[in-house]
Amino acid sequence: MGGKIFAHRGASQLAPENTMPAFELAYQLKADAIETDVQLTKDRIPVLFHDIRLNRTTNQKGYIKDFTYEQLTKLDAGSWFSKKYIGTSIVSLEDFLKWVEDKPLMINLELKNHKIAYKHLEEIVLEMIEYFQMEERIILSSFNPTSIQRLAKMTHIQTAFLTSKRRTDLVEYAQSLGATALHIHYRLLRGNIVEQSRNRNMPLRVYTVNKRRQLLRCFQKKCDGIITDVPHKAQRIRNLFRI
Ligand code: G3P
Ligand code: CA
Repeated sequence: MGGKIFAHRGASQLAPENTMPAFELAYQLKADAIETDVQLTKDRIPVLFHDIRLNRTTNQKGYIKDFTYEQLTKLDAGSWFSKKYIGTSIVSLEDFLKWVEDKPLMINLELKNHKIAYKHLEEIVLEMIEYFQMEERIILSSFNPTSIQRLAKMTHIQTAFLTSKRRTDLVEYAQSLGATALHIHYRLLRGNIVEQSRNRNMPLRVYTVNKRRQLLRCFQKKCDGIITDVPHKAQRIRNLFRI
C-alpha cells in the first residue's frame, strides 16, 4: 500500500469542514486518517475549527476564543456549505475522540496556534489524548515552531512541523525543533526532500493535494501521506499503484 490518505478537515469537499458529517464521510470513504484543526474556546475547551474567526463557516461573527463552548454549540456550522447541513454544530475534541475510539482511523490534530498563541493548548490536548489512550494513533502538527519545541519536551507522540515556506535545510530544521515528521505544502515537494526526510527517518506528508496530477506525483514519489479534501479520489489514484 502506498502513502496514507488523510481526509483534510474530514471529507471537506463533500460536507462542511471539521464537522461530524465530514468526519463520518471520511470514515465511510475509507480514508486512513482524518486531519483536523484544534483551537480553544473562552472557557478553554478544545474544539475543532479552522479559521480563528467564526465568520466564514458559521452564522456568527467574531473570534472563536471569545465564545464559551456552550455558546458555540448553539451555532450553525453547516448551512454555509449547503442547506442539507443546517443545524450542524461545532465539534469538541472530546466528542470527536469518543467517536474515533472504535474506528481504525489515524488522527492528525493540527494545533492552530500560529496566529493566536493559545496558552496551554499543548497541555490541554495532550491530557485529552492521554485520557483516551490514543497516543499511538495520533500525529500532532503545528505551523508554530515554538509549539513544536514545547511538544517535543512534553511527549513522545509523533509531532510534525507544518510549513509552506521554502528553506534548503527544511528537514534538518524540523528535526532541530524536535519534530519527528514533516508536513509540507505541495509546492515544497521538489529537489530531494523525499530522500532527505527518509534519510532522517522523518515521515513526509503533503497538503492539500486534490488534483489528479498532484496526487499521482505524491504516490509516485512515495510520500508517506497526502492530506486531501477528496479522499475518495485519492483512493482511486492510489489503487493504480497496486500490483
Ligand atoms: O495540516 C495540513 C493543512 O491542514 C494545513 O493548512 O490551513 O488547511 O489548516 P490548513
Ligand atoms: Ca489544518
